[in-house]
Amino acid sequence: IAGNWKMNLSHLQSIAFVQKLAWSLKDARHDYSVTEVAVFPPFTDLRSVQTLISADKIELGFGAQDLSAHASGAYTGEISAGFLKALDVQYVIIGHSERRQYHHESDELIAEKVAIAVENGLVPVICVGETAEDLELYGPSAVPVRQLHGALALAGDATNIVVAYEPVWAIGSGQAATPEQAEQVAEQLRSVVAGVLGDDAGDATRILYGGSVKSSNIAGFLRQPNVDGALVGGASLDISEFASIA
Ligand code: 13P
Repeated sequence: IAGNWKMNLSHLQSIAFVQKLAWSLKDARHDYSVTEVAVFPPFTDLRSVQTLISADKIELGFGAQDLSAHASGAYTGEISAGFLKALDVQYVIIGHSERRQYHHESDELIAEKVAIAVENGLVPVICVGETAEDLELYGPSAVPVRQLHGALALAGDATNIVVAYEPVWAIGSGQAATPEQAEQVAEQLRSVVAGVLGDDAGDATRILYGGSVKSSNIAGFLRQPNVDGALVGGASLDISEFASIA
């Protein structure tokens, strides 16, 4: 269960938030060995979150929301995979639809980011998903499948990746996909992973659904054989709601 905070919560707010989230999960006797929980704060929060998680031995995972395709150098404003690794960051979201849309990230750039994440021992959380227009024109699977092929183009022999199917029309809309819709696409995405990275990777890869996930609809998604978890946006900013989802 992954919480993408997007551009919310300062580093000071992140400390109080992670502390309370850990308490809520502890109160509910959450078993992290059964259900992994990770948060994805803004870059400026990562050091605070790392320090808190390590000092208090909290079992939450954490990741970044993006990274640079370059290793280092004259790239003003960018954050390298090496910097993230040095902060014990385990995961990095790559190719979120908000970056594809507002920052014009191409499939080629996303492939480079996936490759540099993997090279540096970070687990990429590769986001794919169709817009409402794509859905009407091409049906549900074609665009996500094409995007995943693109994202894995330079992934070589990556063995540890996460794929998030996030239909753009379901993000922040309150209108989630149905569990059956999510399953249909997740199954296709798993075949892509198996085809590109091998059957073992296909079996081992966790496929998340994202888009208006709440505590009231999570169970339907997780009942699907090819949906292994969720990438939660808005509801991940509400501690009790996010803890309930987990
Ligand atoms: P919402 O849960 O707010 O729809 O956002 C989903 C998302 O974009 C997670 O990355």
